[in-house]
Amino acid sequence: MRRKMIAGNWKMNKTLPEATALLTAIAEGLPADAAPGVAVVVCPPALYLVPALPLLRPGSAVLLGAQNCAQQAAGAYTGEISAAMLHSVGVTYVVLGHSERRHYFGETNALVAEKVRLALTNKLLPIFCCGESAAVRAHGDYLGFVKTQLSESLFHLSAEAFGNVVVAYEPLWAIGSGKPATAAQAQQVHAALRQHIAQRYGAAVAAATLILYGGSITPSDVDPFLCEPDIDGALVGGASLHAREFIALVRAAQRAVAGPAVVAAPVA
Ligand code: 13P
Repeated sequence: MRRKMIAGNWKMNKTLPEATALLTAIAEGLPADAAPGVAVVVCPPALYLVPALPLLRPGSAVLLGAQNCAQQAAGAYTGEISAAMLHSVGVTYVVLGHSERRHYFGETNALVAEKVRLALTNKLLPIFCCGESAAVRAHGDYLGFVKTQLSESLFHLSAEAFGNVVVAYEPLWAIGSGKPATAAQAQQVHAALRQHIAQRYGAAVAAATLILYGGSITPSDVDPFLCEPDIDGALVGGASLHAREFIALVRAAQRAVAGPAVVAAPVA
């Protein structure tokens, strides 16, 4: 069975004291053995990645992710942060192709493909985001749209390299709206993405790929998502800014991994 993952994308939020308090609370709430079978990732703004490390280690189950990396390897690119730099400070994951990067910074599937390549070359694990707008969904072929995002940004990878990628389906109409997709809507897309991966890389790679859902997920609505066969966790924005909510999401994933409690048979 695939493990689950809960990843928090803080986006451009929190001052340093606020970030320190949040990371400390998350680390205290999630000691190393807190959630077996669940990968926990926190993606604070890049500025806080270095101070975050000693807060999360030792004894915490939480790994660090960046929210972006440069599209170039190194050099005269003022203001940019490379994949190699992120890896060198101890970052494990990097979110790539987020719809906010696509929308506000003009990132295309081809550009994201190059960032994915650079991330993997530098031993960072990409959390690759895809998802359709409300207009694309209304138009009909939203499954084709997200499949194309996947093929154009990821299918240049070898099967071995692809095995290091986490996919996150984040419909734009659900992000920050307070209205998540239904679990059934998400499952439909996740199943289509997994099938698409199977066609390119085979059933074993597809079965091993983590596919997260993102878009207005909170502890009160996560359970049905975690019960779906192709939903392996969540990429969380707003709720990841509150320690109690983030920890509750991890605990929900842990319950989903553990399955229903086995009730001992009564002794005759
Ligand atoms: P919200 O959970 O705030 O909708 O954000 C989702 C998201 O974009 C995570 O990357």
